[in-house]
Amino acid sequence: MAAEKWVYMVTAQTSPNIAVINYWGKRDEVRILPVNDSISVTLDPDHLCTVTTVAVSPAFDSDRMWLNGKEISLSGIRYQNCLREIQGRAGEVKDKERGIKIEKKDWEKLHLHIASYNNFPTAAGLASSAAGFACLVFSLAKLMNVDEDASHLSAIARQGSGSACRSLFGGFVKWRMGSKEDGSDSVAVQLADEKHWNDLVIIIAVVSSRQKETSSTSGMRKSVETSSLLQHRAKEVVPKRILQMEEAIKNRDFASFTQLSCADSNQYHAVCLDTSPPIFYMNDNSHMIISLVEKWNLSEGAPQVAYTFDAGPNAVLIARNRKVAVQLLQGLLYYFPPKSDTDMKSYVVGDMSILKEAGLDGENSVENLQPPPEIKDSIGSQDQKGEVNYFICTKPGRGPVLLPDQTQALLDPETGLPK
Ligand code: ADE
Repeated sequence: MAAEKWVYMVTAQTSPNIAVINYWGKRDEVRILPVNDSISVTLDPDHLCTVTTVAVSPAFDSDRMWLNGKEISLSGIRYQNCLREIQGRAGEVKDKERGIKIEKKDWEKLHLHIASYNNFPTAAGLASSAAGFACLVFSLAKLMNVDEDASHLSAIARQGSGSACRSLFGGFVKWRMGSKEDGSDSVAVQLADEKHWNDLVIIIAVVSSRQKETSSTSGMRKSVETSSLLQHRAKEVVPKRILQMEEAIKNRDFASFTQLSCADSNQYHAVCLDTSPPIFYMNDNSHMIISLVEKWNLSEGAPQVAYTFDAGPNAVLIARNRKVAVQLLQGLLYYFPPKSDTDMKSYVVGDMSILKEAGLDGENSVENLQPPPEIKDSIGSQDQKGEVNYFICTKPGRGPVLLPDQTQALLDPETGLPK
């Protein structure tokens, strides 16, 4: 390695994932090993994503990271664990054209610059750390020429944030809890790619919340310490549900998918209530969305929409197809209209074609919407104005990719500093 001024970098993109069989509770807090398997859907990075650029240069004199434009410390144990694990597997890198050669032994002397950007607000409560750590590990593995498959990388991302391991794959993903003490078999595997079930449409209601939520880390710890329902769930309930959910996904069986996803979300929130002191993640608006979906599903005679709620009040709704998604969005906008000064195009984001098909992208106002006939008598009227911050329309999406176009890099190729 010659002591020149080169900066060598790569940029990658990942997206968050949404659990349909939930992860709640660790059996090992340091290695981040769960008490049960979980299953998730990776979201479409065209709508929600993290982009991370990682760079190495002999000119850097310390490891530095910028998150959403602000410098943050890399000294936390979760970042340190990911960096150490990747560095231990680093290979040789050569770029003849630019005269760059990094040998295996050079990596421990070299420093990194990392810049990461989430295209959705951290405050949206959408597990940005999952997409973030998946992107960090994936981009570092590419930079350092690490010869490991995505499952092995998932075990490293897991040590940054548990659910990050599932964002190493697109489509439908299972995180196997594993049984080894060192956590080497606690990895993610892909059940089906994003094209397998491409009728599904996902609508996320980002629900406003007045209270500060308990962090998942401390919430899980309290549940493990105090909830006997958690023990029952992990040992008796989830193992069966995992097998049933795998079958439902394989067969694109929406009725079973919905029954399992809704039941699992509700049991997970029951575990939160069974925790001492109890943890409340959902609020009245979350409960109203559950009623709306349950009543609609019942009136249709067959499930049309599945729901799942993570560690916050946001509703993640999975519609069986586009036609259902359009009706669902109309129903949601009827009950949760925007504040009068909010533009529709900032109230519904992501896949705008759903809004267009609902006839609400132009002059047509939500005030002209009619209540869904099936449920209009059983749910109150439009007094929830402003209770939803915004809706995101999306679908199952691909796993991590490299972004070869240098213009998408977050670091300057000359200086290695944020652009
Ligand atoms: N936590 C939240 N977002 C993140 C990101 N993009 N990278 C690393 N950690 C994060």
